[in-house]
Amino acid sequence: MALCAFYAVWGLLLELAVAFGPVPRITWEHREVQLIHFHESEVSNYSTLLLSEDKDTLYVGAREVIFALNAVNIAEKQHELHWKVTEDKRTKCAVKGKSEQTECRNYVRVLQQLNDTFLYVCGTNAFQPTCDYLNLISFELGGKNEDGKGRCPFDPAQSYTSVMVDEELYSGTSYNFLGSEPIISRHSYQSPLRTEYAIPWLNEPSFVFADVIRADQNSTDGEDDKIYFFFTEVSVEYEFVGKLMIPRIARVCKRDQGGLRTLQKKWTSFLKARLICTIPDKNLIFNIINDVFILKSPTLKEPVIYGVFTPQLNNVGLSAVCAYNLSTVEEVFSKGKYMQSATVEQSHTKWVRYNGEIPNPRPGACINNEARASNYMSSLNLPDKTLQFVKDHPLMDDSVTPMGDRPRLVKRDVKYTQIVVDRVRALNGTIYDVMFISTDRGALHKAISYENGMHIIEETQLFPNFEPVQSLLLSSKKGRRYLYAGSNSGVVQSPVAFCDKYTTCVDCVLARDPYCAWKPLEASCIDIFKESEIERSWIQNIGGDASSCSDKVRENSLQHTFKHGSTAELKCSQKSNLAQVVWKFKDDVLRVESPKYRLLEKALLIFNLSEGDSGVYQCLSEEKVKNKKFSQVLAKHVLELKKIQHTTVGPTAAAAPTEGNSDVPKVSAVSTEGSTAHISTTHVVPVTTARIVTKPIGPVLTSAASNTELFNSIPDTVPEKTMFLKSNDNFLLMFLFLFFFILFLCLLSYNCYKGYLPGQCLKFRSVMLLGKKKTKSDFSDCEQSVKETLVEQGSVSHQSGEQPKPAHDTGYETEPDCGNGQLQPGDSQAPREAKDKPFDVKCELNTGKQLSVSSDMERGLLHCGSKTGTEKNYSNSASDLLEWTVRIQPDEKTLPVFFPFFQIQK
Ligand SMILES: *[C@@H]1O[C@H](CO)[C@@H](O)[C@H](O)[C@H]1NC(C)=O
Ligand SMILES: *[C@@H]1O[C@H](CO)[C@@H](O)[C@H](O)[C@H]1NC(C)=O
Ligand SMILES: *[C@@H]1O[C@H](CO)[C@@H](O)[C@H](O)[C@H]1NC(C)=O
Ligand SMILES: *[C@@H]1O[C@H](CO)[C@@H](O)[C@H](O)[C@H]1NC(C)=O
Ligand SMILES: *[C@@H]1O[C@H](CO)[C@@H](O)[C@H](O)[C@H]1NC(C)=O
Ligand SMILES: *[C@@H]1O[C@H](CO)[C@@H](O)[C@H](O)[C@H]1NC(C)=O
Repeated sequence: MALCAFYAVWGLLLELAVAFGPVPRITWEHREVQLIHFHESEVSNYSTLLLSEDKDTLYVGAREVIFALNAVNIAEKQHELHWKVTEDKRTKCAVKGKSEQTECRNYVRVLQQLNDTFLYVCGTNAFQPTCDYLNLISFELGGKNEDGKGRCPFDPAQSYTSVMVDEELYSGTSYNFLGSEPIISRHSYQSPLRTEYAIPWLNEPSFVFADVIRADQNSTDGEDDKIYFFFTEVSVEYEFVGKLMIPRIARVCKRDQGGLRTLQKKWTSFLKARLICTIPDKNLIFNIINDVFILKSPTLKEPVIYGVFTPQLNNVGLSAVCAYNLSTVEEVFSKGKYMQSATVEQSHTKWVRYNGEIPNPRPGACINNEARASNYMSSLNLPDKTLQFVKDHPLMDDSVTPMGDRPRLVKRDVKYTQIVVDRVRALNGTIYDVMFISTDRGALHKAISYENGMHIIEETQLFPNFEPVQSLLLSSKKGRRYLYAGSNSGVVQSPVAFCDKYTTCVDCVLARDPYCAWKPLEASCIDIFKESEIERSWIQNIGGDASSCSDKVRENSLQHTFKHGSTAELKCSQKSNLAQVVWKFKDDVLRVESPKYRLLEKALLIFNLSEGDSGVYQCLSEEKVKNKKFSQVLAKHVLELKKIQHTTVGPTAAAAPTEGNSDVPKVSAVSTEGSTAHISTTHVVPVTTARIVTKPIGPVLTSAASNTELFNSIPDTVPEKTMFLKSNDNFLLMFLFLFFFILFLCLLSYNCYKGYLPGQCLKFRSVMLLGKKKTKSDFSDCEQSVKETLVEQGSVSHQSGEQPKPAHDTGYETEPDCGNGQLQPGDSQAPREAKDKPFDVKCELNTGKQLSVSSDMERGLLHCGSKTGTEKNYSNSASDLLEWTVRIQPDEKTLPVFFPFFQIQK
């Protein structure tokens, strides 16, 4: 078991070193893009959304309110309806020990279109779930106040899902006050059905999604429509330390009527199977499903199921998207083996493959023509043998494997919450499935799959306060494609693309966005789905080959005059996270690593200016796509020495800021003196020789202790943007982490072996492997071994806190959240601090004592503790005084300097 867990940890580490996932090419800050917001004061928890495409209305279920908004502009409210809990109910709820201010309210959880004039709505209603009919014409409730038990959770914190199929509501939720009785039910006057209340049917499920898939109209087998449910539940088939979660797909048939004697008023067609989302060769299992989107399109042969997953213990913030084709799912349910519970002496029940005879008609199958031919006209006619079998064997032994046998996308430092997928035809006719995936930090990733890899086109910050996105909808009506996202604080409407943000042809093409193309005549980047007709002259290349662009681009040239010995700040910003900034001086590449220069996120600093520094500086952005390099001039600055001494030129020749989001700004010139501005052309040349000069821009590691004067004179150098680590840095970090981890393991096992840590040894190991922050990422080996051998009962320790921890990951912070006690405390704080005080470097002893930091700008050194310290390496001397220095590298990002120090007890 321990070995197993060890492999799990090991697999994770390997994984960390390998798969970081693609970096979003563009990061749109919240204020950079135009989004439409809706929220009302005093109203919160906008978590249920329903889109009516025919009516162009977005219905929003919030806490005690239902809104109808104009789907084209959600800021326009059409109707609102207050649906409050009565005072009496609230008091009663509070008496039962629930919070009167929060829980004992009415959280709208079900909003489904019943027919043209009515919505079916349910709310938690102070732990007395209630459903009603909402008249869309008067926007009033019918006042029916139906008991919502089984359709809507009691507790607003509990999971729920529902789907309306032919005026009947299918829902997955819990059936009682405590939330301990899970149920998948159909609310229908003719034939209400529900699941059996038994662990093999549902075992502490967390419901995420439900949808109907209609039978193929043209097929002759008379198959039924099927309703699919997606949830994560506690495994019955595998035993592990603590609870092992398993992602499931379950399905029922629409024409199911229940059994006559056995399974009366219960599903006779309820079957479930495990969804697999793993990277087998990296031993990584994603076993929590967070959301599902079923892509149905006339251009698709069959629907494709997209799911977003996270691992059970997800402290490193890994997420994956897996896609399944429907035929694989149907195959498992219609042909797969069943599982059977087998009682093993002195142990729990264990589930094994059932190899015995399977009754006829096949248990759990929908009634089709074949069954009808054998005179089974409805589920009420099914023989007891079949019904008894499905009652005892709702779980399939075969699992549903993803298309391509691996995830479509794996991304770290992010927790994906919701997904929608749009299927679009690019200019050249190729069809792309564009995935929009929201995060628990209020962002949205837009990704396409290209040549077996993923390309994340952009990341958009939908919510300024970084709160989790709880629901996501896509409207892909012709010419009107929007995304709607709901959260606790409000609803946001976003266009599917920001084509007009790209101001050059190269930028427009390098975005590799199927929605966007360059229109040479107008010299603008357009959304092709908003145009009435498509023209041949438009330029788009999803492969990112921009060589057909011939930009004649406006370009700014900024004139600066300076004094001897002063510092110049030359601004230049570029948006692409995949591009590199290169500075040229008099047409030669500038060696920005020299101490004379410092590259900041959006500027270049030149210190101690002298005559030789005057001339033309060009800032270029170079982006490589598939071995082709495209470069464009972003900014041009002319520096000139000022001869007359007594004019009022500050120490810094300040350049006018170029707009952060537009790479090629207007012609402008700012200088204290008469300035000249001129227009020149940008040459876009695919460069074949790669000369990488600097790493792309990042905040510079420097010190607050000195050079305050210098930095005070440069107001705008604070990097406000959360940057993604480039994979190089990540690799270095991971390598170091891995190295010290191995070292640690060696020391530990040595000490263990030597018996220096007699009693602690086992405990330490279990803490190491399962405790604080390690992800038990892989269960496949473990599962296998458990499936085949008996359960190691003794080893099941008091590890009960195995629930997926709520959003602890750092999201987009630059630093991997892998502090497992070996890292210096306070590391997780570092990026945030770095944001506020970008030049603050902390120096801390391993005793926790803080030392002063001083810097030696001339030599580019930073001293910790002792000013006289020379360039010592990291040393951990016998006394706990720790001296170290950090070399300032102008081209490096601020990385929290963390090195694990191990103290071995003597
Ligand atoms: C819609 O459903 C309601 C409730 O079942 C029913 O009263 C009404 O007649 C239906 N309307 C239409 C147009 O079908
Ligand atoms: C409702 O929103 C508030 C924040 O506005 C949040 O703290 C609370 O957890 C939310 N409740 C539910 C049930 O989502
Ligand atoms: C069903 O058959 C009709 C005519 O036979 C055809 O036009 C249609 O595309 C088919 N639909 C599907 C989903 O195959
Ligand atoms: C569905 O996926 C499986 C597994 O990747 C593949 O073998 C099969 O060909 C796919 N079916 C279709 C119709 O694409
Ligand atoms: C369309 O362009 C993409 C990207 O360059 C290419 O992979 C694809 O083969 C093209 N499709 C067609 C039909 O030419
Ligand atoms: C500034 O440059 C001059 C030469 O132009 C040099 O003599 C001087 O030492 C430099 N000052 C600093 C602080 O680097």
